[in-house]
Amino acid sequence: DAKKLLALPGDGIGPEVMREVLKIVHWLGQARDLHLEITEELVGGASLAVHGVPIRDEVISLAKEADAVLFGSVGDPAWAHVDFDKRPEVAILRLRQELELFANLRPAKVFDALVDASTLKPDVVRGLDIMIVRETVGGVYFGQPRGIETLPDGTKRGVNTEVYTTPEIERVARVAFELARVQDNRVCSVEKCNVMESGLLWKQVVTDLHAREYSDVQLSHMLADNCAMQLVRNPRQFDVIVTGNLFGDILSDLASMLTGSLGMLPSATLGTVQAAGKRHALYEPIHGSAPDIAGKNLANPLAQILSFAMLLRYSFNREEDAALIEKAVSNVLDSGLRTADIAAPGFTPVGTEAMGAAVLQEMKNL
Ligand code: NAI
Ligand code: MG
Repeated sequence: DAKKLLALPGDGIGPEVMREVLKIVHWLGQARDLHLEITEELVGGASLAVHGVPIRDEVISLAKEADAVLFGSVGDPAWAHVDFDKRPEVAILRLRQELELFANLRPAKVFDALVDASTLKPDVVRGLDIMIVRETVGGVYFGQPRGIETLPDGTKRGVNTEVYTTPEIERVARVAFELARVQDNRVCSVEKCNVMESGLLWKQVVTDLHAREYSDVQLSHMLADNCAMQLVRNPRQFDVIVTGNLFGDILSDLASMLTGSLGMLPSATLGTVQAAGKRHALYEPIHGSAPDIAGKNLANPLAQILSFAMLLRYSFNREEDAALIEKAVSNVLDSGLRTADIAAPGFTPVGTEAMGAAVLQEMKNL
């Protein structure tokens, strides 16, 4: 029976890069027996323009019913000056909240052909393939108490609190251990247990869960500041990194620069397992709506295409199709084809459609 896919292209380059994925979906349906029931909806500025809200409640419901959501990007300068709850970006924030997408997965993979795009030396990043798992709905961004208060002497005080509970830590650690089993079987848990109580609990809970259920996976622990340094010094020492919201935010942005290109990076966010083993999940490129190049056939569609490959792997259990897409992307890059964002000086870049078409053609050839 057909799996339900909700496609939310959004704003800017979102619809342009989504179009290239939908061509691949169409071919997979014909040639490889992938049967998807696809619903497409407006979100972000595109939804504001038609419906007056960044995302409709009906779309939230569709996202909950779907087996997976493929998201483009939201954000449009035309709506930059409206109240916060009317901004296009609220669409993605609401989706993350309502589906309780607590684990953000960001791979940092260096394709051989793009090894020179890295901010680090080629020898340090060649073959890099790591995954950062970041907790996204808890921690210091949401903990109570929080706020800005004025003390009697007029001094102001800004307060945020890092709070993590056992179940919050366990569920994200579980995602990391399961991922490690299909990667290189190693997890590095990152916190600052030397100065933070929530970090101390994090380390204990991960250690206990590991002993109880995942002793086949190799577990190590690292302080967050050291992890930042190690990611730059020798990133290949890592396989799966699991960490809280704040450290994950920073470390995953750092790791994205190890690969050198925003237009190449996919991501997944996973929620809790529902009845019948199903789990809410949303897949999206790391990049935003890139208003500076929108509508010009300049955007690199590979991050969106690779996000769809992650969706096939983690939500639809279609490892072979996921691997086929990734292999095709790798081969196309090896052949020298580049969009402008990843083009070497002196080479003529191709547009969004030509890149999408080349990946699809290579999938057919493989
Ligand atoms: P951005 O990622 O949209 O763009 C940053 C730079 O990278 C721009 O120069 C852009 O042209 C380039 N770029 C991004 N993706 C590219 C691609 N696929 N191919 C080629 N070049 C690419 O980030 P920016 O400019 O900070 O934000 C623009 C809008 O996107 C804002 O409204 C922001 O709020 C929104 N945004 C939305 C996200 C989401 O939907 N999850 C994530 C990040 C930003
Ligand atoms: Mg960030």
